[in-house]
Amino acid sequence: MIKGFLFDLDGVIVDTAVFHFQAWRRCAQKLGGDFTEAQNEELKGVSRVDSLKKIIEWTGASVTADEFEALMVEKNEWYLELVQELSAADGLPGAMAFLQQAHARGIKIALGSASKNAPMILDKMGLTPLFDAIIDGNNVINGKPHPEVFLKGAAALGLNPEECVVFEDSIAGVQAAKTGGMSCVGIGTPETLEGADVHFTALGDTTPEELVARFNV
Ligand code: BG6
Ligand code: MG
Repeated sequence: MIKGFLFDLDGVIVDTAVFHFQAWRRCAQKLGGDFTEAQNEELKGVSRVDSLKKIIEWTGASVTADEFEALMVEKNEWYLELVQELSAADGLPGAMAFLQQAHARGIKIALGSASKNAPMILDKMGLTPLFDAIIDGNNVINGKPHPEVFLKGAAALGLNPEECVVFEDSIAGVQAAKTGGMSCVGIGTPETLEGADVHFTALGDTTPEELVARFNV
């Protein structure tokens, strides 16, 4: 019986995945390299520290511990500049209505995001009151694809993993959901998000009712 929805934030609810991509590219270019949009799929859902490690590996740059810390700070400053003007208008197609419908239907709602900026982004979108629990990059030790963020989300809602549906746009996040024992809706294509139970381009392409019916079978 599905009783809870666990949402990723960046790329599922709000169009911030593109800002993470832009800020990370700037980092890569500073290191004398670059990376492709296909490689960026491997960064989605991945924590700030693990993302930077991957980018350093891709560029082949050698970086001291101090330089690593400085790049982490700089990337976040660039990201914060890009999201400064973010508002409810930046919700991905149908996301705000989907959340409101789920809330009105009595489905428990939690956030399961790798981002330490997640609470600030939810506030900018005016969405914080819709969430019964918020688990983000500040609350976990193990980043996605480890299931910790979603297991903590389910526990915070007082639910078992099998009572929850995860909404994810990242490969790492889909793996986290499936390892955690949840059903998973991929926001993206079956080619990119292998392993998700069902795929949609955006939350607006489905409804809470449709998904609850589907996963309760
Ligand atoms: C995830 C994004 O939600 O959060 C990643 O998909 C990002 O791109 C990660 O790197 C960490 O975010 P932050 O805001 O803590 O740097
Ligand atoms: Mg995401």
